[in-house]
Amino acid sequence: MVILGIDTSCDDTGVGLVEDGVVRANVVASQTALHAPFGGVMPEQASREHLAVIGSVVDRALAEAGLGLEAVGAVAATYGPGLVGALLVGLSYAKALAWARGVPFIPVHHLEGHIASALGAPDSARGRAEPPFLCLIASGGHTSLFEVRAWGEIRELGRTRDDAAGEAFDKAARLLGLGYPGGRALSQLAETGDPEAFPFPLPLKGQAGFDFSFSGLKTAVARLVAASPDLNKADLAASFERVVVESLVSTALRAADATGHTTLVVAGGVAANRRLRERLQDTPLRVHVPPLSLATDNGAMIALAAHARLKSGFRPTSASLEADAVP
Ligand code: KG4
Ligand code: ZN
Repeated sequence: MVILGIDTSCDDTGVGLVEDGVVRANVVASQTALHAPFGGVMPEQASREHLAVIGSVVDRALAEAGLGLEAVGAVAATYGPGLVGALLVGLSYAKALAWARGVPFIPVHHLEGHIASALGAPDSARGRAEPPFLCLIASGGHTSLFEVRAWGEIRELGRTRDDAAGEAFDKAARLLGLGYPGGRALSQLAETGDPEAFPFPLPLKGQAGFDFSFSGLKTAVARLVAASPDLNKADLAASFERVVVESLVSTALRAADATGHTTLVVAGGVAANRRLRERLQDTPLRVHVPPLSLATDNGAMIALAAHARLKSGFRPTSASLEADAVP
């Protein structure tokens, strides 16, 4: 069966098509350039842009897969969490499409979509990631660690108490004058710096549980920049990146110890970070990082989650058309 998946939770309009668990199309219309001058996402602008492009992004996804609308056997969309106006565009579009075509509608939690992104990665040397596994989601909006025992049996082990990891990268990048969103630029600058130059402590070190915290680190960077504007920015970037990566990896390792899981899936935009990928290779875990097109926000991961749910016995009813956006 072909499932059409839509994600409009934040600033990307994502539409994907998944056939029997295989990604046939994945089109994302990015709004980054629209929001960049404001240094962050403007919610009202995001909703309007989703509305302007959603129809054409669906058409592009169908064209990429070489399919017509009549091939679509179910429609899935993110119902939350996210910006409420942005969510409403994709959710309403998806519900209307499912209703008009007389096919089931499946509302999907955005983070379940991120977790499912690992299921869509083409078989590599490591094979496809199948539950049980641990999943670290690190993006601009979320940083959480999940235990996925089976589809439908997902438990959050910990989450950030303040900023998300990507948000911390973006805020530190802005303090260093690297623009928005600056996570990638900061990580490039870090390549030339000394990661030990600034001895930032590991956040929440020694505390029980699997939560994260990055706002103290951001404040430390802000203080250093304010105190000496001409400090070595590459050293600061490298030291900052070292601590964020170490926090993510050491927490994931402790969770693996505590739960006995040996496979770790990493999703979200921060999965693009080179130091994080390299550091994870140094661990005894089997690490799956989906390709970036699936790791960042997209519609295919929403269709993959819907497929996994259907496979595990979930049957959508007409009541799912009542699903509301949950910010
Ligand atoms: O998953 P994503 O595309 O969007 C959501 O936030 O949902 O993640 C974007 C985040 C941004 O904060 C961005 O700065 C960060 O991922 N990011 C990176 C890198 N590339 C993107 N952070 C660190 N290193 C990178 N190479
Ligand atoms: Zn996301």
